[in-house]
Amino acid sequence: MFVCICNALRERQLRELVRDGVRCEREAYARLGCRPRCGLCLPIARRIVREAEPAFAPPA
Ligand code: FES
Repeated sequence: MFVCICNALRERQLRELVRDGVRCEREAYARLGCRPRCGLCLPIARRIVREAEPAFAPPA
């Protein structure tokens, strides 16, 4: 699934970056050599990064 249309960034890429140590969505974009443009993807990118990183998961 595409998360960011402006940068053709996929959910799978974000999850792989979290496994490689990325801890926020902006760091993920930077690692991929891009940056948010319109910004519409940021909330879902943030959620994906937090879900992929168990330590960031909200308390149940
Ligand atoms: S959809 Fe990601 S910056 Fe526009």
